[in-house]
Amino acid sequence: MAMTNRSLVTVDDLSNGEIEALFSLADEMSDSMNEQFGLCHGKIMASLFFEPSTRTRLSFETAMHRLGGSVISAVDIGATSLAKGESIADMARVVGSYADIIVIRHPWEGAAKVVADYAGVPVINAGDGSHEHPTQTLCDLYTIKKERQTIKGLKIALWGDLKYGRTTHSLTYALARLGATILFRPGPGLELPEHVLRKLTTEYGGELIRYEALDQAIKGGLFPLDAIYITPSSPHQLAMMPDVSLQVELKTGVDALYVTRLQTERLSAKAKKQGLKEQYPVVDKKLLRKKEFKRTLVMHPLPRIDELAYEVDADPRSMYFKQAARGVPIRMALIAFLLGAKEISIPRESESFIRKTDYPVYRRDFGVSCPNRDRCVSTQETETKYIKPEFKIVSNQPLTLRCVYCEHEVHPRYIASSEWHDGTLDSKKYHSADSHWTRKIKTENLIVFDSESEAEAHGFKPSHYVRVRH
Ligand code: NCD
Repeated sequence: MAMTNRSLVTVDDLSNGEIEALFSLADEMSDSMNEQFGLCHGKIMASLFFEPSTRTRLSFETAMHRLGGSVISAVDIGATSLAKGESIADMARVVGSYADIIVIRHPWEGAAKVVADYAGVPVINAGDGSHEHPTQTLCDLYTIKKERQTIKGLKIALWGDLKYGRTTHSLTYALARLGATILFRPGPGLELPEHVLRKLTTEYGGELIRYEALDQAIKGGLFPLDAIYITPSSPHQLAMMPDVSLQVELKTGVDALYVTRLQTERLSAKAKKQGLKEQYPVVDKKLLRKKEFKRTLVMHPLPRIDELAYEVDADPRSMYFKQAARGVPIRMALIAFLLGAKEISIPRESESFIRKTDYPVYRRDFGVSCPNRDRCVSTQETETKYIKPEFKIVSNQPLTLRCVYCEHEVHPRYIASSEWHDGTLDSKKYHSADSHWTRKIKTENLIVFDSESEAEAHGFKPSHYVRVRH
């Protein structure tokens, strides 16, 4: 199966079968590295890295050179017209007219989606703020698969900055889809964001067991787990007997420990002062002596700072330099695949495409905007000239809208219908979002507001259902 003009913005843009097929292609690439030179001859890859990068950029560029293609690059936002106030959409259109494929890293969440929407050529997200980093996930999964032959049923612990670390977000989605059990060990205040947890439980059918729900014996016996997520692949009734099931689950130990650094560059000034660095959990020889880590693969997307001791490097369980090295064949496979230079065959048993939940879309240029101010591309001054806030309505109770760019959620407080005019102006009313009107108003007519003053500014009057809750 070939694919042309498809982008990789989120890890969900690839089905499980395609991920498997890319792994086989990466195997083929590494076995015959020097024979791949003609595959992308004459093709040009634009490498746009507007945040620091060593591994991702250099492995992408190496991959394209190994495939016989050429690379054009911009690595400093200050040296591009973005610094003059050019929008990402305009830049994408222009670069898309020069290159056959674009790789972009940008500090704004959702920036890669905007590039993919406007470039007209395949776009690969090499990291968009704290949102996602799908190609790092491919390297991570490929490493686990190589070392353990499967991902299904493994127990993978994610360690460190689960809030701002984009690698962990893409990785949790993929692990859940592939049937792993995920354990979370965040640094203080660095838990997985609610919108990521919601996706895991509502879209991948997983169960979330919180630390507080666990038996004291489990809390004490293990390294300090904060939350545990079990995928439906687990055969037991975890929701009914979390403690017993967990004891059974963990007896065999943790298969991989995925360590991440504190994303200092994404912390607010206030958070920087909270001593997060001092309280950040460290993985060292002593920790790895615990029996649950006997056979654990120690992984890290790198760069490491202080969270992973150098003494672990000589340990055969350490995998991080292998992960980085495998970035070249994986990215060669991906580029060749997206450029349609190589057909892939999807293994029969994993042929099914992933289910994309078809939520209704909410798109209006007033009423509510993404709450992820300053970080989401849709809230940036240069981009609001052409981007309208756009959300997926992921739940009616409570009313929950998910930004299509950064996936942060908003719970609007007031709602109205655009069909107010069927009677008189008197029927132009707004209601509380937790009243029964949320179910009554048709999605295509729904208008949401964050405040009463905003609803009133648009000519709506409060209904009986604004203050009386139903
Ligand atoms: C990661 C990133 O950029 O998100 N690095 C990488 O691509 N290997 C991890 C990090 O910076 O902490």
